[in-house]
Amino acid sequence: MRDEEQSIMAVRGRFLDFSRPAATAAEMKECARFLEDGLMLVKDGHIEWFGDWTGGQGQLPADVPVHDHRSGLIVPGFIDSHIHFPQAEIIGAYGEQLLEWLNNYAFPAEMQYQDPAYAGKMADFFINELLKNGTTTAAVFCTVHPESVDALFTAAADINMRIIAGKVMMDRHAPPELLDTPESSYRESRALIEKYHGRGRLHYAVTPRFAPTSTAEQLKVAGQLLQEYPDLYLQTHLSENEAEIKWVQELFPDQKNYLDVYKQFGLTGPRSLFAHCVHLEEAEWEELRGSASVIAFCPTSNLFLGSGLFDMGRARDMKVKVAMASDVGGGTSFSMLATLAEAYKILQLQGQSFSAYEALYSATRGGAEALSLDHLIGSFGVGKEADFVVLDPEATAIQAKRLEKSQGVDDMLFSLIILGDDRSISHTYVDGRLVHQRAAQQQEEL
Ligand code: GUN
Ligand code: ZN
Repeated sequence: MRDEEQSIMAVRGRFLDFSRPAATAAEMKECARFLEDGLMLVKDGHIEWFGDWTGGQGQLPADVPVHDHRSGLIVPGFIDSHIHFPQAEIIGAYGEQLLEWLNNYAFPAEMQYQDPAYAGKMADFFINELLKNGTTTAAVFCTVHPESVDALFTAAADINMRIIAGKVMMDRHAPPELLDTPESSYRESRALIEKYHGRGRLHYAVTPRFAPTSTAEQLKVAGQLLQEYPDLYLQTHLSENEAEIKWVQELFPDQKNYLDVYKQFGLTGPRSLFAHCVHLEEAEWEELRGSASVIAFCPTSNLFLGSGLFDMGRARDMKVKVAMASDVGGGTSFSMLATLAEAYKILQLQGQSFSAYEALYSATRGGAEALSLDHLIGSFGVGKEADFVVLDPEATAIQAKRLEKSQGVDDMLFSLIILGDDRSISHTYVDGRLVHQRAAQQQEEL
């Protein structure tokens, strides 16, 4: 709940972020900004001052509350570039690959969200899970029902959380209860855009689920919406699973490849987020690069659904932007720490590296860059929005033990990523306000 607490506050503690854009692991290490005893002054949800405690302490206005987090590690709030709000309740559903999993679990769960009361209850649950895991911005798939978008945006607006979301567009190959039409999807998406896009910290994303569940007519409508509102996002799925790719070829025999289906309707571009991209052809990599489109890398989902290993090395070589994503409920954790740990292992299996700094960068500043939000979030620059997380490097006995052997900040960060989950998040702040406190919530849940 947003309360009327003071609009000015200070935070003291160990801070870690990245002071400028960086493309390589070496650059990320270079621009990692670690303050052993730092101070952040937050006014009206924005960072007013950031630097060493000794340098800033004297300027603190009298009576400013100081939140002391010196035992933690304060990092920018995590950014999840692809997640499904109505799939929280089917996380970890056994068996099968993408297409069977959609029919058996995802579609039945999504049917419930036509009920505004149910959608509202689950939106609160979903936002709470994000905050518990230190995620302060997410790009979210709702369901085909406008009620689900109302519910999510209402819950996010309640705490002034920066959220990108949209109504799923889906006019074939799903149960009748989940289908719209090109006309109704246009009308309903447009009404939601008018109602929410640009209101506070809310952004709308045109959301055709994926090529197999949209006719050409509907994809055309999606392109039309992007033309009418050029600062919208586009989010969809691309090249996740072999059977899916084959199906797309059968459904769109005239297109050269999967991405070409989206491209012909004007759906590629710098605000277009393509989840997965596990089995791309050469021409698709070229098109992603040429159009400056963004990949949402979904490690836990790609492993859980047996989709394959994303080639991060290729994305780096091609200079295609990659943002990290949980993809709950195909993904198995809301935690971006757990997501980064699985990303590390996927890269390991391909002989690629993923340093602690690269990992943190990708879930904070890198995610913000990929979503074209780096002027607002993702780092601690003065004037940025005050979304941040306090990590607890000693959340469990084994982590505390490991910390005794820790060799420097990057080693501490790396073990936090590999061993961490929601227990590692002691506090989450959104818009300069405390929105999650682990100890308080544990008490409440007892
Ligand atoms: N492709 C189309 N829909 C979905 C979905 O809900 N989850 C995943 N992982 N892939 C998809
Ligand atoms: Zn997805």
